[in-house]
Amino acid sequence: MKVFVNKMIPETGIRMLEQEGLEIFFPEQEFLSQEKWLEYCQKADAILSVGTEFRYDRAFFTACPDLKAIALYSVGFDHVDIKEANRRNIPVGNTPDVLSKATSDVAFLLMQSVARRASFNFRKVKDGNWGAFDPLHALGQELYGKTLGIFGLGRIGFEMAKKSQKAFDMKILYHNRHWNEDAEKELNAKFVSFEELIGSSDVLSVHANFTPKHEDLFNRSVFEKMKANAIFINTARGGFHNEKDLYEALTSEQIWGAGLDVTNPEPMSEENPLLELSKVCVLPHIGSATVEARNGMAKLAAENIIAVSKGMKMLHCANP
Ligand code: DGY
Repeated sequence: MKVFVNKMIPETGIRMLEQEGLEIFFPEQEFLSQEKWLEYCQKADAILSVGTEFRYDRAFFTACPDLKAIALYSVGFDHVDIKEANRRNIPVGNTPDVLSKATSDVAFLLMQSVARRASFNFRKVKDGNWGAFDPLHALGQELYGKTLGIFGLGRIGFEMAKKSQKAFDMKILYHNRHWNEDAEKELNAKFVSFEELIGSSDVLSVHANFTPKHEDLFNRSVFEKMKANAIFINTARGGFHNEKDLYEALTSEQIWGAGLDVTNPEPMSEENPLLELSKVCVLPHIGSATVEARNGMAKLAAENIIAVSKGMKMLHCANP
């Protein structure tokens, strides 16, 4: 089986594929145009797919009629037309679990960074503006006993809720497609309507899978209903929030702050006005960027490819 790996992944995954005798090939250059990328895909039986910049849509599948499998190097699969993959019996693997702790760590980090205005204070030091001790300056807010609202309580949302409760004794509200019995038992989490979630949360953290119906879900009318001290955290996908509306909500003090590990588009331009705001912290989509998580993702993606090469089911599939 010929496997196209579109970007280098940790060695462990590559070794696993080689040990199975699979033929692996990589692109010759780092940045691929859409056409060049498609050319590589057309030569492959399976793709180990890193990044979300290339879309697997109907036109793609039509152009690659011999493709047998896609193993994503991500938990998110919003860049794949899953219905079309199903129609063509193409399994699409993803990498859940192994990155839940790392990604929720980043949500937790952003929550604290925004609450204590870390980016703003870092910039002051860097710009030589440390200044004298001032009882009224650079004040943040404490998170102890506050309410954390989780939109999408899956594996990552659960980890975020767990650490926030342990660290800050936060109350957990959630809105999800299903009840989460474990979260209700273990964290005393309460399932609430979307309206209640946005109206009652001091911190609102987004952890759902992104689908087209979620586009701009967090928009002006939602921010208007949030609390004035609310912190909005998004480590899922940039499409969940409307950036202009978020900027307006922050500058008109409808909400207090925002922490983003994902933007729309990515990368965010350095000219983006959000970066000027003192209660905003933006990271460059580093949720899963730990040695442990990235090794786990490499292993899982390789295992998914190997399973297909042996005529077996993938370990984790976005299309069951
Ligand atoms: C994921 O795994 O979905 C991360 O966001 C990387 O794309």
